[in-house]
Amino acid sequence: MAILEIVKLPNAVLRQKTRPVTKFDTGLQKLIDDMIETMREAPGVGLAAPQVGEPLNMAVIETLPETDDSGNEVEGSRDLYVIINPKIVWRSGEVVDGIEGCLSIPGYVGEVTRHESIRVRAQDRFGRKMKLDLEGWDARIFQHEIDHLNGELYIDKLTAPENFWTEEEYDRRGR
Ligand code: CO
Repeated sequence: MAILEIVKLPNAVLRQKTRPVTKFDTGLQKLIDDMIETMREAPGVGLAAPQVGEPLNMAVIETLPETDDSGNEVEGSRDLYVIINPKIVWRSGEVVDGIEGCLSIPGYVGEVTRHESIRVRAQDRFGRKMKLDLEGWDARIFQHEIDHLNGELYIDKLTAPENFWTEEEYDRRGR
């Protein structure tokens, strides 16, 4: 496995519409494994193929772990997903505002409105069809990553232009 270089704004590949994945071959498996390693090393909770310079319709996601009373990660509470050719087929009417960052826009965060729950149809790394029902932070991460596959970034949909901060400003604001 290898750590890949993460593409940063304003690289044009981030704005490209991605190609569907049609071949689930060994080259794809290697790219997926490298993307997982790159996401973990960053660290991040999601990484879309355009973010490593590949305009392909796929992303890897690893949800945040649950923690116990002493703040330790609950084993097995972190879920890893590889989503290929994903489509959001249902969105809840309920929406929620939350703070997002992006590995391609390092050092910044912004507030974005997302659907509280979604249903996603996608293929797994071997091309098998799957259906996922997601809510809360998991649903937010999926919406952010699927936006990447359409050339969209969270900064395109801020709740207001001023709701965008450096991480430093945001930390100060929180105190
Ligand atoms: Co991102």
